[in-house]
Amino acid sequence: MPSRYDEVYAAAMADPTAYWGKAAEGIDWATPPSRIFDPSLGAYGRWFPDGRLNTCHNAVDRHVAAGRAEQAAILYDSPVTGRRATLTYAQLQQRVAKLAGALAALGVAAGDRVVIYLPMVPEAPVAMLACARLGAIHSVVFGGFAAAELAARIADAEPKVIISASCGIEPGRVVAYKPLLDAAIALSPHKPAACLILQRPELPCELTPGRDRDLLEAEAEGTPQACVPVAATDPLYILYTSGTTGKPKGIVRDNGGHAVALHNSMGLLYGIGAGDVMFTASDVGWVVGHSYIVYAPLLAGATTVLFEGKPVGTPDAGTFWRVCAEYGVKAMFTAPTAIRAIKRDDPDGKLLARHDLSKLEALFLAGERCDPPTAEWAAALLDKPVIDHWWQTETGWSITGNFRGLGLFPTRFGSGGKPAPGYAVKALDQAGNPLPPGETGTLAIRLPLPPACLPTLWQAEERFREAYLTAFPGWYNTSDAGVVDAEGYVSVMSRTDDIINVAGHRLSTGAIEEVLASHPDVAECAVVGAKDSLKGQVPLGLVVLKSGVAKPEAELTRELVALVRERIGPVAAFKEARVVARLPKTRSGKILRATIRRIADAESYTVPPTIDDPAILEEIEGVLRQ
Ligand code: COA
Ligand code: AMP
Repeated sequence: MPSRYDEVYAAAMADPTAYWGKAAEGIDWATPPSRIFDPSLGAYGRWFPDGRLNTCHNAVDRHVAAGRAEQAAILYDSPVTGRRATLTYAQLQQRVAKLAGALAALGVAAGDRVVIYLPMVPEAPVAMLACARLGAIHSVVFGGFAAAELAARIADAEPKVIISASCGIEPGRVVAYKPLLDAAIALSPHKPAACLILQRPELPCELTPGRDRDLLEAEAEGTPQACVPVAATDPLYILYTSGTTGKPKGIVRDNGGHAVALHNSMGLLYGIGAGDVMFTASDVGWVVGHSYIVYAPLLAGATTVLFEGKPVGTPDAGTFWRVCAEYGVKAMFTAPTAIRAIKRDDPDGKLLARHDLSKLEALFLAGERCDPPTAEWAAALLDKPVIDHWWQTETGWSITGNFRGLGLFPTRFGSGGKPAPGYAVKALDQAGNPLPPGETGTLAIRLPLPPACLPTLWQAEERFREAYLTAFPGWYNTSDAGVVDAEGYVSVMSRTDDIINVAGHRLSTGAIEEVLASHPDVAECAVVGAKDSLKGQVPLGLVVLKSGVAKPEAELTRELVALVRERIGPVAAFKEARVVARLPKTRSGKILRATIRRIADAESYTVPPTIDDPAILEEIEGVLRQ
């Protein structure tokens, strides 16, 4: 079938009101929007400004009403605990309504914030949907972050209630969440009124009297709540992501645009409809988890797999394929790093061959640049389309991709595909002029952004404008560098800022530098993302010691690694620090991080003309080659 991409893309761009107005018909509205887009509102306009809806109703209740009560909504599969569970749409509705009752009893109402710090257990989507049901705003924090990162999010979101668990389970170790939660609350100037704690049998915890309640008990006693319609422009959630400084950015997602765009994306990109099974192997703490473990599959009336495990080691590199075969997964989505891990452990696909993957129609990859050999390996073994698609926490869904709902156009490995209907993507030069096809520049999206993309940052409108809208007036700056070729394929090559991507996790080198700089022996430091064959990038720290300090490098590294683990969390995967005499800087004192990175990756580099003292580069090269 020839792809209808060109025709549909052109129509959506020529008449966005018609395209998104039609897409909005896929959603149940309490008050349908009379206007699709109002350019006069917010920083660049707002979608469906006078519509009212409830996202939980659209993700749960309407499917029960439409005859899907007994269909599985969530399939929980946890190789790390050996547990499995199925939640039908009817069961999900009941649990969500009762947990909403427990939250309401604690005073949570529309517009209030609830922080969710949970591992990959069914209670995570139940908690998210319970907030959505009340019109409350959830903010999920990834379990691999340490207390200080959690504290920063509590301080910024000011939640009334925190929902957490006694522990998470990593291969080979149980991660006690309660001490992290207690430490975070102690660190945060804002304190929640109450915490609901899921007790897990692997490591139950003591509840703090007067503050904590057992989550399941509270849920059982909750009075079921109805869905509360909210304005389409009201926030559904805040998701914090790394910015260039240590202070994370609170990405705001609204209810209406999100429901419309995500529902639309299920057929458009993934070819998934009601009754189909989707498996997204990520974590609810990331945007991929928010969108494609929780909201989009449920908005579509599909079944979603909630997998608590890793691509390898739980128990082996065949675990993803087992899940696909057992549950009849039609579309699978993960990060390239997971495929690299599987490829490393099962290069010939012997474990894959043990499973019946006849129902699997395509593999989707995102979260970091996908190196062509990894995509080629997966495509050859699976003999199915492997689709790389590019997006960000900020956008909530794919900026570019290939579109199963329109018929696929030929895939080119190394490219994230072509812009999704609604996105006008160009590579710009430094002055903001669109570059000719094939030339590398900063990838930018012509305003307005399509529905679901962030309208602002949580209580930081100025920071939103500065970070995204100021560099190129009229455009959203993605801070990704790349190329748009003559046929419209977009290739994303690297970030233009200080963000690195470690195993599909977005980290700020600035945040790691702040931690290293706080060590009493460190005078100054620089952190860059060095190439890594498994994780894509890993952070590498260069530190200059204060004069008179003569600590062995190995001892210092141990201390720095422990410090980053304690302040940011194990997810930073910070393992390597090297002591150098000086850092390369420009004459105005800016550290030349891009040059350091090239040296670390053993790439050729040109000596920057603005460098203060070129001899430093040779010194650095000497240290890193040792
Ligand atoms: N809670 C607590 N700790 C966590 C955690 C969580 N939810 N997730 C990760 N960690 C810890 C890990 O245990 C590890 O700790 P360690 O240093 O003590 O070993 C550290 O954080 C780094 O974790 P990770 O990046 O997962 O590396 P790994 O070496 O354990 O595993 C992969 C490598 C490739 C298997 C793993 O990175 C992976 O599954 N990647 C897929 C990423 C993904 O889904 N990204 C989402 C974006 S789409
Ligand atoms: P996050 O906000 O954590 O989803 O990270 C977003 C960043 O990850 C993007 O800005 C890119 O730098 C990178 N990224 C995500 N998907 C892709 C992709 N398919 N190709 C290249 N880079 C990607």
